[in-house]
Amino acid sequence: MGDQDSGKSLAVDVNTGGVSRDQVNHQEETSEFVSLRPKSLREYIGQAEVIETLAIAIEAALQRKEPPDHILFHGPPGLGKTTLAYIIAEEMGVNITVTSGPALEKGGDLLGILTHLEEGDVLFVDEMHRLPRVVEEFLYPAMEEFAVDFIFDKGVHARSHRYRLERFVLVGATTRAGSLSAPLRERFGIFRTLDFYCEDDLVRIAKRSAAILDVKIDTDGAHEIARRSRGTPRIVNRLLKRVRDFTQVRGTGIIDKDTVHKALELEGVDEKGLTILDRKLLRAIIDFYKGGPVGIEAIAATLQEESDTLVDMVEPYLLKMGLLTRTSAGRKVTEQAYRHFGLSVQQGLFG
Ligand code: ADE
Repeated sequence: MGDQDSGKSLAVDVNTGGVSRDQVNHQEETSEFVSLRPKSLREYIGQAEVIETLAIAIEAALQRKEPPDHILFHGPPGLGKTTLAYIIAEEMGVNITVTSGPALEKGGDLLGILTHLEEGDVLFVDEMHRLPRVVEEFLYPAMEEFAVDFIFDKGVHARSHRYRLERFVLVGATTRAGSLSAPLRERFGIFRTLDFYCEDDLVRIAKRSAAILDVKIDTDGAHEIARRSRGTPRIVNRLLKRVRDFTQVRGTGIIDKDTVHKALELEGVDEKGLTILDRKLLRAIIDFYKGGPVGIEAIAATLQEESDTLVDMVEPYLLKMGLLTRTSAGRKVTEQAYRHFGLSVQQGLFG
């Protein structure tokens, strides 16, 4: 344990490229997306069971005056993993330090961060599944015993030194729970999956965000945005801003169903919420692979996209919508996908 670099010294550079530290209570708003984020559990819409789990864990920890167990969130992008990490820090009244798996290259990168944490602080690590092995092993004693072991010198002169840390809470996020090693997964006391949001919750989020952005929206308009947001609050907020621009310049200033139709047609978002990339993926399977089954790498090559992008960002919603299936032989489109394009399976095969 402990790579060679981590032995150099405590003065190891913090990998500032991937790290930001926020005093949550005085957090600067850097973008509108941030300002649309709920800042407390009470404000949070949807994911009721996850919110209840967190509320109990936080209240119990506050009563005991100790940090809660480490928490791992799993789920597709845009469903609130980062937002929840900020909320946990806010509710606990502590700082949050934000980094991600790929930003941590060596044990020393993590050491620099860990030694700067204060009692109870939240360390948020996004993309946990991309944490290098050497950093992961460095993390084990930090999570379990609030200590890190590092080695000075090499060979016969090698000496191990144990450095004590303040108790902190690690909040991890991953789009691929299956890619996390079992020892790492088991060190999280709380492990919750965030699922796609239902339409009613997305409508409430659209209305809340519209109020914050000070734009008028009617109920039909909110439903229309919700239906086209792929079950994802981040997409609700992104589409809402595009529709707001549209109605300000080309519309009446009020977001209704008709405005949403027109604005999102321009964005290439169809009535099911499918984007250009979603449709390209489905059409590639239909047009080039007779509907599948076909391996993800072949699809990625056809579309000239990274297979990780397709697996993490595109496929989950297509699977949920029943437009795509995964079989041991590869991906297949469903009959419903053919129908979405106005094709029959026969046309798809022979057309
Ligand atoms: N904005 C983005 N996600 C949200 C959520 N879950 N609740 C309220 N507002 C949000």
